Amino acid sequence: MKITVVPNGPLLIDTEGPWTYTGEAGPTKNNGRIAFCRCGASANKPFCDGKHKTSGFLAGGGECDLAPR
Ligand code: FES
Repeated sequence: MKITVVPNGPLLIDTEGPWTYTGEAGPTKNNGRIAFCRCGASANKPFCDGKHKTSGFLAGGGECDLAPR
């Protein structure tokens, strides 16, 4: 699993296979990538809907690889 914090954007989670989100907005099936909103402007929380591009959200980014060692 890899987690990417997109500069000025969402939290991207890349998995090695499909999975299902079952939270308040769910269930949502996914085929290996999902983007969670971190700007607060999405109309489809907890998912990113692209509003960060026009909301003026500014934040740093980074990556975390959670592969087994
Ligand atoms: S991070 Fe994309 S809409 Fe919030």
